[in-house]
Amino acid sequence: MRRPVIAGNWKMYKTRAETRAFFAAFTPLIAASNDVDIIVAPPFTALSAAVESAHGTGIAIAAQNLHGLREGAFTGEISAGMIVESGCSSVIVGHSERRQYFAETDELVHRKTKAALAAGLTPIVCVGEILSEREGNLTKQVLKRQFEGALGALTPEEFSRILLAYEPVWAIGTGRTATPEIAAEAHQYLRGLAAANFSPEEASAVRILYGGSVKPDNISGLMAHDQIDGALVGGASLDPESFAAIVNF
Ligand code: 13P
Repeated sequence: MRRPVIAGNWKMYKTRAETRAFFAAFTPLIAASNDVDIIVAPPFTALSAAVESAHGTGIAIAAQNLHGLREGAFTGEISAGMIVESGCSSVIVGHSERRQYFAETDELVHRKTKAALAAGLTPIVCVGEILSEREGNLTKQVLKRQFEGALGALTPEEFSRILLAYEPVWAIGTGRTATPEIAAEAHQYLRGLAAANFSPEEASAVRILYGGSVKPDNISGLMAHDQIDGALVGGASLDPESFAAIVNF
């Protein structure tokens, strides 16, 4: 049985003060939730405030990006070790916004995933097709390229420590959620890639999150599907009530 995981990706929203206010309101609302792993990914500047606020709650804090090297002359960049030192236990890697606006390739996503794993972080590795790829019937081809490019060269032990997120780009921030059937079909395909590249055991163990316009009113339908192990939530994770409603699906 795969344990559900609900993660909030705050993107470039919330100051440190707003982060503290979020946790003050959110923590009591999820206090009774023992069956779900909860992850919150604030911007870098608010990580330590989030770690302090989440202390003792069981909520894990994630960064949204990292550099693939341990240290160096890379102005503006943050390493896996620095993220660990901030008190984080995971990091989002290869989000479609990083791929789209910051030219991240599958090869770079691979290096970042390796760096996160080497530092003991859980990488939340994102894959997903854009609208023209879906309409051109290229979804499986794109998912295979992204999966194998980013993860194919991992060891089975490394693969067992990742979370995978399927985020169809056409569903992000658009209010257009993939139906549970569309998401489940992609998840099943990704699980097949995990079986082919690693083993049937790894494939049945890996947790695959769906992301793209997840809201309190569609989470139950998504989570009812046995292929969908959780959600990576953008906009609806910014408000404590709506994110708590999703966690408490
Ligand atoms: P929205 O939930 O705002 O569509 O964002 C999804 C996402 O990109 C999470 O990483």
